[in-house]
Amino acid sequence: MTQPLLQLEQVSKSFYTRPTAPYELFRWRRPARLSAVEQLDLTVYRGETLCVVGESGCGKSTMARLVMGLLHPDEGQINYAGQRIDHLKRHDRLAYRRRMQMIFQDPYTALNPRLTVLHCLLEPLLYHQPQLTEQEALEQVFQQLLAVGIDPALGQRFPHQLSSGQRQRLNIARALSVKPEFIVADEPLSALDVSIQAQILNLLQDTANQQNLTFLFFTHNLAVVEHIADRVAVMYEGRLCELTSSRNLFKHPRHPYTQALLEAMPQLTTSPQQGAKLMGDVPSRLQRPLGCSLQDRCPYANERCRHQVPTLFSHTDGGQTACHALQEGRIKP
Ligand SMILES: Nc1ncnc2c1ncn2[C@@H]1O[C@H](COP(=O)(O)OP(=O)(O)OP(=O)(O)O)[C@@H](O)[C@H]1O
Ligand SMILES: [Mg+2]
Repeated sequence: MTQPLLQLEQVSKSFYTRPTAPYELFRWRRPARLSAVEQLDLTVYRGETLCVVGESGCGKSTMARLVMGLLHPDEGQINYAGQRIDHLKRHDRLAYRRRMQMIFQDPYTALNPRLTVLHCLLEPLLYHQPQLTEQEALEQVFQQLLAVGIDPALGQRFPHQLSSGQRQRLNIARALSVKPEFIVADEPLSALDVSIQAQILNLLQDTANQQNLTFLFFTHNLAVVEHIADRVAVMYEGRLCELTSSRNLFKHPRHPYTQALLEAMPQLTTSPQQGAKLMGDVPSRLQRPLGCSLQDRCPYANERCRHQVPTLFSHTDGGQTACHALQEGRIKP
């Protein structure tokens, strides 16, 4: 796990939002800037499973779309296997389409409503492997359907005739069917019930082991993270606040936000009373304060936190945190 596959360097993305209704009254106002992700620096190594966790709206899906080229970064660059991919035109990106696959958060909008289950899977398979005969392609599709727990008898159904869980399993089957080397999975399990979650997790892990797959896995389910992650990146308000091995994260969370996140799941932490207690609520994304995004909620915040954005620094065990209080020793690392 030493060869970098994906590298994000200082990647930022903002959206501009129109004033809310009544639009006529506020038409003269300039659109507000919403910074979805800011100065992301992250490396995913070949063969690893890197989980990104964070609360709703912190920028996980935006980051996933940036990696897949569905959005273009405002600043920074994205490299895949040593090649810069963020500026590629649609045609040049085709070369990466088979190598990088995405499992989308919303399974319904990710599927073409006019294609049946079989066609959903046959289309990408025959596009990327035109040498396959129809019989061979159908066999592969049936195998993939069985692997994700969908009865091939449902092959002639359209997406609206499937349950939400079946749609998500179809999405997963479609992503795996072209044998990619890198999968970006955006909350792939949130639409599934617990028993299917375990089955799909095992399938993803087995496939990862057999095909040396690399996973960038976005989730807010810490139990899933503990089960599959090699390393974990914790995001808050569009910025990374901690990046460490999965083992260290659950044994020894350092950043006040990570501690609060783990404390929200008491069964996962052995010492629930020791972590930082965050105050207040998540601030508005449209009025981001200067300095650290956690400043108004963190009990350790001081003047420096209010003026200077913390950047990631390394600890002796290889873990990284972005926190002035940790860096200055105001919190014991
Ligand atoms: N196309 C867009 N236009 C305007 N704002 C957007 C757009 N896409 C995302 N956002 C905003 O950017 C922020 C990050 O959104 P994103 O979908 O990346 O969050 P997330 O971490 O995936 O959340 P969740 O866990 O709920 O899926 C949110 O405040 C969201 O409202
Ligand atoms: Mg999302």
